[in-house]
Amino acid sequence: MTRINVRVDGVTYDDDVEPRTLLVHYLREQLGKVGTVVGCDTSNCGACTVHLDGAAVKSCTVLAVQADDGEVTTIEGLAQDGSLHPMQKAFHEMHGLQCGFCTPGMIMASVDLLRENPDPSETEVREGIEGNLCRCTGYQNIVRAVQQAAGEMRGGARAPSGDGHVSPAEVDTAAAPHVAGAQS
Ligand code: FES
Ligand code: FES
Repeated sequence: MTRINVRVDGVTYDDDVEPRTLLVHYLREQLGKVGTVVGCDTSNCGACTVHLDGAAVKSCTVLAVQADDGEVTTIEGLAQDGSLHPMQKAFHEMHGLQCGFCTPGMIMASVDLLRENPDPSETEVREGIEGNLCRCTGYQNIVRAVQQAAGEMRGGARAPSGDGHVSPAEVDTAAAPHVAGAQS
């Protein structure tokens, strides 16, 4: 066992961990931070994304001991004083989720994206979250949510549509003919 001291969502923890324990397992199993989910365990999906010392990391690729003396923020620590983070609010308002499994990681990755680029184009958003997979393929509204949050975080500056407001995409049922076909 190795002793680590880590601050998670504003609370400091002193814990013994196995040197091989992954950060995501430490967060979920030892701290009960089950808002951070495991999608693949192989660094592909991004569902486990958290912030370590302010930068997004896939917590299934980081050992808990690597977070020693560090600061971790999970999706559970993003809201402040009972108010949703603008990114959480935008995902809610823009319907940026379907089943919601990818959402914690998407939000954490998107917050980090805006830290580096506060005014990303649609292409830059898509590139910025390319490490996060949505199996519901809800990317259209995810991108719109990120751009809405960007506008709000810049203080209501120009939104991507140019009129100060972003609308969620219409649901395009024609885009999934195989679904209809599967039921006939
Ligand atoms: S669970 Fe970490 S990248 Fe998929
Ligand atoms: S909303 Fe279902 S995986 Fe993204």
